[in-house]
This record gives sequence, C-alpha cells and structure tokens, in this order.
Amino acid sequence: MKPAILVARAIFPDVLTRLSTHFEVESNQEDIIFSPTQLAEKLRDKAGALTTSSARINRELLQQLPNLKMVANMAVGYDNFDLPAMAEFGVQASNTPDVLNETTADFGWALMMATARRITESEHWLRDGQWHKWRYDYFLGADLHGSTLGIIGMGRIGQAIARRSTGFNMKVIYHNRSRLSSEQEALANHAQYVSKEEVLRQADHLMLILPYSTASHHTIGAAELAQMKPTATLTNLARGGIVDDQALIAALRTNQIAAAGLDVFENEPRFNPDFLSLKNVVLTPHIASASEATRRAMANCAADNLIAGLSGQRPPNLLTLL
Ligand code: DGY
Repeated sequence: MKPAILVARAIFPDVLTRLSTHFEVESNQEDIIFSPTQLAEKLRDKAGALTTSSARINRELLQQLPNLKMVANMAVGYDNFDLPAMAEFGVQASNTPDVLNETTADFGWALMMATARRITESEHWLRDGQWHKWRYDYFLGADLHGSTLGIIGMGRIGQAIARRSTGFNMKVIYHNRSRLSSEQEALANHAQYVSKEEVLRQADHLMLILPYSTASHHTIGAAELAQMKPTATLTNLARGGIVDDQALIAALRTNQIAAAGLDVFENEPRFNPDFLSLKNVVLTPHIASASEATRRAMANCAADNLIAGLSGQRPPNLLTLL
C-alpha cells in the first residue's frame, strides 16, 4: 500500500500527478488555508506532507500525529518549522534551497531599482492622468551605479545579489553570522565584511536577505533606521519580522530614509495598511521566487525530498537532526 500524504496547498497539477505515482495523495487545489485544528485533522492518518510557509509544524501539532514521518516545505525558509520538536517526534524536515537563488536575486534587483528610481510611484501618477508636461525635477531618484550596496545576510541568495552588482560598478559591503571565504568574497564583487553598524552607516542601498528566527527578529528597528543615510533605500526580500514594520513606516513618513521596497511583511498577507498611504514604498506580495521555472523547480524539489524520505532514503535537503 502506498503511504498517504497531504499536499497542504495548491500546487502544479503535474507535480500532484507525479506524487500520486508514489503516494495516496490528499490535495488542496481549492487552496484553503487550514487552521491548526484542520491541519491536525487532515494530517492524522498521513505519513507525510508537502507544505508552504503557511503551515506551522510545531510541538502542539506533532503531539497529535504519531503517524507523521516527514514534512517537505516548498520554500527555502523554514521558520514555520519547530526543528527541535520535529527531531524529538522523529519527523524529518526538508526545504528547497539553491533552486531559487538566481530568480530571487533577479527580483531583489528589480525591487531595489524600482524603489531607487520610483518606478511604481511614477507609474501610478501617469495612470492617474497627472502627466501634462516634462519637468527637470519630476521623480528624482537615487543612482545605483557607483553607489554602495549593503547586504545583511550573505548566504547563497545574498552572494547572487552581490555578483550582479559588478555591472553597476558598485562597492559591496556585507554583514553575516560568519565571514565568507576570500574566494567567495572575490566572486561576490569583492564584498567587504563589516559590522552591522557599518553596513547601516555606509549603504546607499540596503538589501536584507537573512533567515528569520527569534535571533533575527527586528534586525532592523527604529535604532537601526536612525543610523542609515537619509538618502538610502531599504529592500526586504527575507521575511516579515526581520524589519519592525511600525518603525519603518515612521521612518518613511518622516523621510528618515528615502524609500523602501518590500516583498515580505509582518503578519502577511494582513500587512500594516499604513504602508498604503506612503508614496516612497514599493510593495509586492511575497513573489521573489515566482518565476514559472523556479516555482516548478521548488515544487519538484519538495516532491523529491518527500519521495526520498518516505522510501527510506536520505532526502537531498534534510534539515532535521534525527
Ligand atoms: C522561500 O522560499 O522561503 C520563499 O520566501 C517562499 O516562501
């Protein structure tokens, strides 16, 4: 008999077909966001699950699921997993690293450029019928070429973002839990390792791409925003909670920094509505990895992990320390 799994959110139909050659699949193509009680109910008889960041796999849930053996997240981030609890309950966990690095880095640049050059703000103005003449000072923005790019979180995506800056003749400074090797720094446009305070002080454009955890909660708050240049932009591709959104709103409102580009928010998708009244922010709905090819690669990577894990092999992207 094939093991039973839950695919907890809507997914590419061909990936469901692929999974159903290995498993009895319960799918959710209606894309209902299950409450913790519904998720526990759906998972009660399942050996595995394919999840996204909306499913919290924590101790309270695991206590109810003695049959569960593996959860494969379709995301590189796994802050929705309580890994120590998963290890304690003997549940393997996996994520989807690497397949999204380049697509996410491309998007980081798109968001940073849109933010620095006021692309969405000026488009809204044009669509609103306000364009009657050309003026020398309409929508003056900040240059990227020749400026200093500051990156907090220099994992694989951060390095891919830094590599792209060579064509813009930018200086790259970064802060990370640990310093890269000199070879990695050279490949990342000769990125220089500095303190977090130096990144904040020197960056013309600040890019956040670090994992979320209790340790990185509010890495950027009022005190950090106060250290940034008033001409600086901030781009958050990482996770809601890395930035204190209330403090950012205050900083944008008072022009303490010039602008922000945000793909992630605290409490998303119910983000702080005060962002909507600000012109100097570009807002996107958590789509940094959303190219057709990459989302397919992520779905297939999660499926590969689940297939390996539930057939007794080591999942390629195993996270749990069992
Ligand atoms: C990721 O892969 O972590 C993206 O943010 C999608 O959740």
